[in-house]
Amino acid sequence: MNILITGGAGYIGSHTCVAAYAAGHTMTILDDLSNSSPESLNRIETISGKRPRLVVGDIGDRSVVRSLLDSETFDAVIHFAGFKAVGESVAKPWEYYQNNIAGTLVLLDEMRKHGLYNLVFSSSATVYGNPDPKNLPLREDAPLAAVSPYGQTKLWLEDIMRAMAAADPNWHILLLRYFNPVGAHESGLMGEDPNGIPNNLMPYITQVAIGRLKELTIFGNDYPTRDGTCIRDYIHVCDLAEGHIAALRRVAELPGCTPVNLGSGNGVSVAELVTSFEKALGRPLPHRYGPRRPGDAAACYADASRALELFGWKTKRNADDMCRDAWNWQSKNPQGYHTK
Ligand code: NAD
Ligand code: WQD
Repeated sequence: MNILITGGAGYIGSHTCVAAYAAGHTMTILDDLSNSSPESLNRIETISGKRPRLVVGDIGDRSVVRSLLDSETFDAVIHFAGFKAVGESVAKPWEYYQNNIAGTLVLLDEMRKHGLYNLVFSSSATVYGNPDPKNLPLREDAPLAAVSPYGQTKLWLEDIMRAMAAADPNWHILLLRYFNPVGAHESGLMGEDPNGIPNNLMPYITQVAIGRLKELTIFGNDYPTRDGTCIRDYIHVCDLAEGHIAALRRVAELPGCTPVNLGSGNGVSVAELVTSFEKALGRPLPHRYGPRRPGDAAACYADASRALELFGWKTKRNADDMCRDAWNWQSKNPQGYHTK
C-alpha cells in the first residue's frame, strides 16, 4: 500500500515507518517537525535501507494537504500528527484545540474531497478518563470521559469521525486507542526524545539512569493495588507499530468507525517497572516515594481481545524488553536526537 503518515517523524510514527517498510509498504510523511527531528528519517533509512519522502508542513494548512493529495494517490492515511502532553494542554488549551481538532478537520475534508476514505487514527486510552475499577480490563464499550483538554481533543475527534462515518458509508476509520507506549527500536537508533523534563514515567527513568536527572519520584504508594503504586498497561513501541500494520491490512474491509484498544492486556505497577528497569541497568535506579500526582487513576489496562479478533495482532514484548530497549536507546543517545 502507499500510505500517507502524518506525524511520521515523531516517536510512534518513526517506529511505524520501519514496520511499514518491513511489510512492503511505501510512504510519505507529512510533519511540521514541531515535536520531532528530521534525524529520525536518517535512522529510519539506516534501519530499513529506504527513506520516506518528507513533506514539512502543517496538517491544518489546506494548501499543503491539498497539493500533496493532488500530487499522489494514497491507499490509506495513518494520522499521528498532534500535540500530546496532558499537562501542557491544561496550560495551553487553545493550542491543543487548534492543532489537534482544527488540523484534523482540514485533513479529513481534503481526504474526502480526494476520495481517500481509509484512515487509521491515533486515539488514546485517555478517552476512558479515570476508569471505574469495575470496568477493568477496559473494553472498547467502556464509558468515555475527558479529563484534560488533550483528552478532550481525542474524544471530540472520535465523536467527529463517528458522525462522519455514520453519515457517509465510504469511510473506513479505525480509532486505535493506545495505552502507555514505551521503549525503543531494538537497534538503539530510534526512541523517545521528549522536550524538556519528561512528564511520562519511562523517559523520566531513562534520564535518571543516564544522569540527566537526579532521582525518580514514584507518585504514591498508597493506592489500592498489589504494591500500592499505580498500574498501567505499558506497550512496547515496536508492538504498537506492528499493530498499525495489522490494522492497515484490515482497514479497507471494516466499514464505519471502529474503536480498537492497542495494549498488552497486562497491568504492570510503577514499582514493578522500576524493578524491570534496574535489571536492564544492572544497578539500582535512584528513586523515592512521593505524594500522589493529582488526577492519576489507580489502575488502567486494556482488554486487548478486539485487536486480536479483528487484526490477528497481540503484543509480543514484555516489560523487561521495554526496559532493555529504552535503556539501549538512551545510553546510545544520551541527548536524544539532539537536533530538534
Ligand atoms: P510525537 O510528538 O513524537 O509525534 C507527533 C508528531 O506530529 C511530531 O513529529 C510532530 O512534529 C507532529 N505534528 C504535531 N502537530 C502537527 C501538525 N499540525 N502538522 C503536522 N505535524 C504535526 O508523539 P507520539 O508519541 O509519536 O504520538 C503520536 C500520536 O499518538 C499523537 O496523536 C498522540 O496524541 C497519540 N498518542 C500518544 C501516546 C504516547 O504516550 N506517546 C499515547 C496515546 C496516544
Ligand atoms: C505512568 C505512571 C504515574 C512519572 C499518559 C497520558 C495518556 C497517554 C499515556 C497520550 C503513573 C507514574 C510518572 C513520574 C511516576 N498519553 N509516574 N513518576 O499518566 O498513565 O498516561 O501517557 O495519550 O493520555 O495521560 O502515563 O507515564 O505519565 O505515568 O510515579 O515521574 O507512572 O503516577 O502512575 P499516564 P505516565
